[in-house]
Amino acid sequence: MENDRHGAKQPHRFDPAKACKLDDPARFRILPPEEVLGLLDAPHGGLVVDFGTGTGAYALALAALRPDLRVAALDEQPAMLDYLKAKLAGRPVAGVEPVLSGTPAAAALAGRADRVLALNVLHELGDKALGQAAALLKPDGRVLFVDWNSQSESGEGPPRNHVYSPDEGAARVENFGFVVEKKKILRAHYALSAAYRPRINPD
Ligand SMILES: C[S@@+](CC[C@H](N)C(=O)[O-])C[C@H]1O[C@@H](n2cnc3c(N)ncnc32)[C@H](O)[C@@H]1O
Repeated sequence: MENDRHGAKQPHRFDPAKACKLDDPARFRILPPEEVLGLLDAPHGGLVVDFGTGTGAYALALAALRPDLRVAALDEQPAMLDYLKAKLAGRPVAGVEPVLSGTPAAAALAGRADRVLALNVLHELGDKALGQAAALLKPDGRVLFVDWNSQSESGEGPPRNHVYSPDEGAARVENFGFVVEKKKILRAHYALSAAYRPRINPD
C-alpha cells in the first residue's frame, strides 16, 4: 500500500490508533471550522468533498454550519470511516455522507465537486492521491489545501520534517498541475486555494 505514495512528504499513513487526537476539541481553537468555511467559499447548495476526512470532525462541523451543503466525507481507510459512522449512528447529520475511496460511491463523485477540502493531509498525499483529488472537481471547482506549517512556532502538529512550509506546499501542488490562486498563513497552518489546470505537453 505504501508504494503508491510517490511524492508524499510523510513516509507513512495516518495511524487509526491515533484517531482520538482528531476529535480533540482543542483542534477547533487552533483551526476553527468557521475559518475553514470562510476559506472554502463553497457556493450555496454545493458539493464539498472532505478528502481524507479521518473521523469526520470537520465534515460534521462544516455541515452543521452550512446545512445547505452536501459533504462527502471521503477516506481510504475503513477504520477511520468507522469512527464517523459511529458518530452518525448516534446523531445523524443531514448532508454528511461517509465514502470509502475506490468504491462506486467514490467514483460517482468524479467531476462533481464544487470544492475539495484537503485538511491536514497534503503531506500524506502522493501523486496518485493528488490526481484523485483533482479528478473530483467540476471545471470551475477548487481544492482548498490546509496543512500544518513546518515554519510555525506553535509546537502543534506532526514533526516538522513530515510537513511542508507554505512555499513548499504551494510548489508541491503547482508542480502537479494546480494553480494556487490564494494563499494564507494561519496560526499553525497555511491554506492554499487552487484550481487544477494541468499544462498541456506540446508533444
Ligand atoms: C491526519 S488525518 C486528517 C483527518 C481530517 N482531515 C482532519 O483534519 O480531522 C489524514 C486522513 O487522511 C486519510 N488519507 C490519507 N491519504 C488519503 C487518500 N489518498 N485518499 C483518502 N484518504 C486519505 C487518512 O486515512 C486519514 O484518515
